[in-house]
Amino acid sequence: MKKKVWYTYDDIHRVIKQLAEKIKASDIKYDAMIAIGGGGFIPARMLRCFLEIPIYAVTTAYYDSDNEGQVTDGVKKVQWLDPLPDVLVGKNVLVVDEVDDSRVTLEFVLNELSHEDFAHIGVAVLHEKIKAKAGKLPEHMPYFSGITVEDWWINYPWDADDIDEHNRLAAVSE
Ligand code: G4P
Ligand code: MG
Repeated sequence: MKKKVWYTYDDIHRVIKQLAEKIKASDIKYDAMIAIGGGGFIPARMLRCFLEIPIYAVTTAYYDSDNEGQVTDGVKKVQWLDPLPDVLVGKNVLVVDEVDDSRVTLEFVLNELSHEDFAHIGVAVLHEKIKAKAGKLPEHMPYFSGITVEDWWINYPWDADDIDEHNRLAAVSE
């Protein structure tokens, strides 16, 4: 079974601060974030404290479909910036998600957004899992990650049913 890890809100906050410092140290000044929901919503909101730029959002869902015995998986749009708000045209945007896992969602979103009229797109994730990636990021796209982590299953605090138990597991699994 895959090893699991638990992160608390405080752990996430510290990683976000580190991530923000990397973004602020880069040459590009970002005008807005585009959070990939659901996982990117809370990280983008926490990042806003440090970057002080507005948050826009798209939402995707990962699906498995069984087509005559052939199981395929993919990403679909739940909500999109369609049409793109005028204020974002020609701007530098930072796409934000919680985890860089297979990169399938990231590839889908970045590919869709690359058809829009932005000056520049960068991507920021809290946790970059070190593993072989099925999806590809566009070449030369600035990429920021808060921390690199092993390929373990991450339990995020916003998914917790019992946050005290979640925090206890985070403390004992350190
Ligand atoms: P990636 O492009 O960012 O690498 O994501 P990928 O398509 O590989 O991920 C598919 C779904 O699995 C995503 O959820 C992602 O958040 C989730 N996921 C991947 N690894 C982990 C992990 O270690 N822990 C948790 N909790 N989730 C993980 P999604 O379909 O975008 O759903 P949502 O939760 O963002 O709404
Ligand atoms: Mg997600």
